[in-house]
Amino acid sequence: MIKAFVFDAYGTLYDVQSVAAVTDAAFPGHGSYITQVWRLKQLEYTWLRSLMGRYEDFWTVTRDALAYTLKTLDLAADERLFDELAEAYNRLTPYPDAAATLERLSAHRRAILSNGSPGMLAALVRNSGLDRLLEQTISVDSRRVFKPDPRAYELVEERLGVAPGEVLFVSSNGFDIAGAKSFGFRVARIQRVPPSALAGEIGTETRLEPLTLFKALRMQDEMLGYGADVTVRSLAELADLPPG
Ligand code: LAC
Repeated sequence: MIKAFVFDAYGTLYDVQSVAAVTDAAFPGHGSYITQVWRLKQLEYTWLRSLMGRYEDFWTVTRDALAYTLKTLDLAADERLFDELAEAYNRLTPYPDAAATLERLSAHRRAILSNGSPGMLAALVRNSGLDRLLEQTISVDSRRVFKPDPRAYELVEERLGVAPGEVLFVSSNGFDIAGAKSFGFRVARIQRVPPSALAGEIGTETRLEPLTLFKALRMQDEMLGYGADVTVRSLAELADLPPG
């Protein structure tokens, strides 16, 4: 019996692509490259820092990943512009069906479990108005390790008092789906880019676009042996899943 729906934040409830408006305004013509390399590197740094035993919170990781990205293009941002770009991660746009889905799931407990730092997540849910639809916004920060480390997923039982088997964990991030399933949650995957759509996109591009590469590397089903229990195409479909 599912007692709680627990959502990943970045890429699942919130569209990380929405930073592109800010990156492209700052560096016209480079917006797509910056947006994708920034997000790819941000996740990579969470895994590297966890493996190295050198935790720094997601705000630091996000800023370091942005610095890396700009450096690869030999672009300079003064402190004000750099802060403005980084702040875009605190004002991400929720997916259009996020609020309505959380409302339709109101018979269940609803929370976020995210790599985001407490400050980033507080800003994100406040700026988007999702705070009133969530019982808790849980950051991995107190464990000083990032998902998919099992110690991060343990926070759900600690904070909500719900056993892993009673949680439907919802994510569109391949690594997070595998981590959550390996941990013992029931897992719903949001498949935003079916392989047929990706293949079609690759077939029509004369050179591989950064966004297409991102979709290929981060938005597909991983081959780690811990697949989702259920796959849906959108958040909205979660509210129509059979009970249990
Ligand atoms: C999160 C990132 C990993 O919200 O998407 O935890």
